[in-house]
This record gives sequence, C-alpha cells and structure tokens, in this order.
Amino acid sequence: MDSEVLFTITRENLDTGLRGYPIGIVTTSTVDPENGLYYRGIPVSDMVNRSPEELIFLLFEGHLPKEEELKDFSEELHKRSTLHPIAREAILKLPREAKPMALQSIALMLAGTYESSGDWKEDALRLIAKMPAITALVINHHAGWGETPQTSKERGFAETFFDLLQLKGKSKQLLEALRLFLILHFDHGGGNLSTFVGKAVASGLEDLFGSMAASLNALAGPRHGRANEDCLDFNQALMKELGDNFNDQTLEKALRERLARGDLVFGFGHAVLRVEDSRAKVLYDFAKEHFPDNPLIKFALSLRQVGPKILKENPKISSPYPNVDAISGSVLSAAGFPFPIYFTSLFGLSRVVGIAIQIYHERVVARGGKGVPIYRPKYIYQK
Ligand code: MLT
Repeated sequence: MDSEVLFTITRENLDTGLRGYPIGIVTTSTVDPENGLYYRGIPVSDMVNRSPEELIFLLFEGHLPKEEELKDFSEELHKRSTLHPIAREAILKLPREAKPMALQSIALMLAGTYESSGDWKEDALRLIAKMPAITALVINHHAGWGETPQTSKERGFAETFFDLLQLKGKSKQLLEALRLFLILHFDHGGGNLSTFVGKAVASGLEDLFGSMAASLNALAGPRHGRANEDCLDFNQALMKELGDNFNDQTLEKALRERLARGDLVFGFGHAVLRVEDSRAKVLYDFAKEHFPDNPLIKFALSLRQVGPKILKENPKISSPYPNVDAISGSVLSAAGFPFPIYFTSLFGLSRVVGIAIQIYHERVVARGGKGVPIYRPKYIYQK
C-alpha cells in the first residue's frame, strides 16, 4: 500500500496547477466526480435540514452529534463567538473603499493578533465561532448599514450572522437561504484552492488566523470564490440582452454566440465534477419550492436546461454541467440579499469551517501525530 503507484507524472502534467495529483489525505469531505460532495461519507443532499452546528461537529468529529453533544458543542462555540474589542475597533477604522474580501482577510489578521492561542484545535474553534460576528461587522461597515450588535447565547452560527447583519427587511426565507448556502459551502475536499493555500501556509507554522487570511485571499479570485458574484452578473447581462424576447430558443442562440466569440459561460463546469454539482441540485430544488416566479430563478432554471445541451456539443468540454455558482447568487438575491459584492464574503464565512478543520488535521493528526512537513513541491528548471 505504502509504495502503491497512485499517479504517474509526465511532462504534460507540469504547469497544470497540480490538477488531479494526489498529495495527501483528507478526512472531512470528498468530491466524487460522478456523485458530488460528501461530508464524512454522507452525501450533502441527505443533510439539507441539518443545522450548521450539527455539520461543523460532524466535520470535526466524524459523526453526527447526539442531543447532549450538540448542546455542549453549541455552547463551546457561543463562548468563543465575540470579537476582541481592540480588533473590533480596528476593523471599524479600515477604509470602506477596500474590497469586502480584503476587509474580511485583514479582519482575521486583526482577530488573530488578540485571539490566537497557538493551539490548533482551540484556534479552529475560536475562528469558526467568531466568523459570523467578523463577517457581519465587515459587511455592515463596508455597506454603511450601521452598528453591529453583540452576539446572543440562544442563536447559532447562521442566526447570529443573520441577526448581526444590519440589512433592513430581512425575512425568514433569507435566514433559510443563508443556512442552506452556508452548510453547502463548508468544505469541498482537500484540494480546492483556498483550502490548499491555507494548509500550505499553516505548514510553515503561521498560526491558524494568518493561514486563514491567506485562504480568504485565495478565495477572493474570480476563478474560485468570486465565481458566484460573476455568475449572477453574467445571468443579469444575458437577461437584459434578451429582455422580453427571452425563451429557451433565444437563450440558446445567445449562448452559441458567446461560445463562438470564445467567451465563457459562467456557472458551468468544474475541475473535479463530471455531473451536475450536488450542491446546485439542492439549491435548484429550494429555488423551485420558494421562488418559482422570481425572474432570476426562472432564468437560472432555463440555463440549467439549455447550458449543458450546448456545451456538450463541444467534445473538448469534459464538464458541461452547472456548478453551485450557477444558482447560489440567484437564490440569495431572490431571498432578499441582492448584493453580489458580498457573495464571496458569505462563501468565506462558510468555507473557513472546512479549512480550519483540515488545517487542524494536517498539523496535529496527520502522519501519526507528526503533522505534514512544510510544503515544498519540486519545480523543474528550464532556460
Ligand atoms: C469549491 O467549492 O471550492 C469549488 O467548487 C472549487 C473546487 O472544489 O475546486
């Protein structure tokens, strides 16, 4: 087993972003090309009614919590949920012209200045617990939505963020959409860019907060976390172009024109998945149930049918199916959060969970407790 050949590297594999290279063990989640995302062996589609706390516990401990365990774990998170007052004041002094993801990343560096204990597990818990307050503070500050209140004991991960967000006219449906968005984005295997970057930085023994700030910077790019924002922009631009003439035929024609020009069709394809993203399916079902008449949802549902049909005609496209970004922004907007500029911040709020737990594993559990050494892949020199 130890000397089993898992992958043979040829020259063609160089400069391909480590695509598909096995480089380590991941215990939290896996992305099956044909079946989508599993958390600790359970398909995400089987867990859509679970609370964030249940799934954070599952990712940490490997099993769903019993009632008492869930109560204790929720209390442990709540105890750590407030932000150090100096970090809070410093975040409020950050320039509001900065991008929300830059603010979220700097906020983690500031939080780490006062909150890092140096113990990987404790810091993973602290960071996850504080993230709803940090993200709400950053968004309220950036948007100018007013002062962010303190967290309250009875409220969980999703509710705390929802309560602290000073957005007017919030509805129960928005809370439900947020809960779903958050639990679906917690983790996505070991090799997605933000997770990989966080683990690499932590391998140099930067603390968890600093490693996570690097992860958020990785998440901020349009090929990774910002894809949800760009995808909604793409859909809205197409909707505007088609106007009252929108139907499956006109949509098909518009997509063909874009492909002929060499433009991207946003929200389709994935580095690993070879079927429709199981996270997208959950959100399509939610959208059909709650917002069937919303124009953004109707449009996203048409794209779900028309997009793969056209993309499949090109034999070079190995992944012609919708990914989670094809629908997540439309759902958030339909539910009352029409602010694409903050979609990646919500992704960050969620993804820190998987990253923190994976970092803890690599630092403390992996290799019989020795931890993974500092990352140092080989590059081949060429003149
Ligand atoms: C993610 O959720 O991280 C994205 O789908 C990207 C990936 O898995 O590589």
